[in-house]
Amino acid sequence: MRLVATARCIPGMELAKPIFNEKGMVLLGRGVVLTQRMIDNLRQHQIPVLYIQDKATADIELNDVISHEVRVEAMNSIQTVFSAIEKDTFRWRGTQASAKIADEFKKIFTMLYGDLRQTKEAMNMLVYTHVKENYVFSHSLNVTLYTTAVAIKRGFNTKQLSEIGMGALLHDVGKLFIPQGILHKPGRLTEEEFEQIKKHTEHGFEFLRKTYEIPLSSAHCAYQHHEKLNGGGYPRGLKGDEIHPFAKVLSVCDVFDALTTHRVYRRSMLPHEAMELIYTETHTHFDVDIVEAFRSTIAIYPIGLTVKVNTGETAIVIGQNRDAPTRPILRVIKDAGGHSVSSYYDIDLMKDLSVMIVECDTV
Ligand SMILES: [Fe+2]
Repeated sequence: MRLVATARCIPGMELAKPIFNEKGMVLLGRGVVLTQRMIDNLRQHQIPVLYIQDKATADIELNDVISHEVRVEAMNSIQTVFSAIEKDTFRWRGTQASAKIADEFKKIFTMLYGDLRQTKEAMNMLVYTHVKENYVFSHSLNVTLYTTAVAIKRGFNTKQLSEIGMGALLHDVGKLFIPQGILHKPGRLTEEEFEQIKKHTEHGFEFLRKTYEIPLSSAHCAYQHHEKLNGGGYPRGLKGDEIHPFAKVLSVCDVFDALTTHRVYRRSMLPHEAMELIYTETHTHFDVDIVEAFRSTIAIYPIGLTVKVNTGETAIVIGQNRDAPTRPILRVIKDAGGHSVSSYYDIDLMKDLSVMIVECDTV
């Protein structure tokens, strides 16, 4: 399978992974041959990339980070709890109600953790294959997956994992208290509107700390996930170790997911592009150890990506090397002259150290 920007899909291409509707039902199944109308529809739904069947990589299977069933169940739970909080904030502050939130989120987290723990490979790009998904919900889920993977890497114990997981699921819960018109405004925000959006950190903290069953450290994830190491973040401008260690993990995962997700106002970045941007802000914004743990957790060059190497050949990423995210396994499809090769061959960048990726297909 090959990763292709939806903008560059052409009729006749065959889907290698299904596309789901907002309820998790298959909209376009694996093996469907795309028509222009389907492609237009997917573009309209802002699905930035698709997995397409490809002769050269027909033998390559992509393992999802979590199973489709777990994803659908987690998304449904997030949606149910968030909508309930939004509709009747006060009711949720009772002891019984807060136990319900905590229980529901513990359940989601246990499911996600169960699937994640089994993943031995670097986390592949969380390709957006659901149309009409609510951004706040899918962002909460993605950030939780990244955060948990990094927390596992950093050796967090079970209690810490459950607390940071709960914090990640609820880190943007304060957005439910921001007027929808501002939150989803397609154009540029005024200074005043931006100030209101920033308040989601405080609203989230206030809500969660009064929700008895939610650990205080999880509430601090909501409060502090926009703080920066140099004190330039919000809401309190905390510096260095004043920032909770959980929030330091969360801020990297939050920014990475925001950058790699397509929004109305900008195209999505590829993992390596988002990583470059995060690097430029390491030390000032992000904790260097967390960035390093993050870098070795995710697949910087996701499976299916078309790349060019320094020897001039064009190849597709077909596998990852554990703990060496910048050196995946490639399958060469074109020689240095740009001609399709008569028989494909693989290069393992861990074994062939003189070869390196110099260019990626833009998505
Ligand atoms: Fe946020």
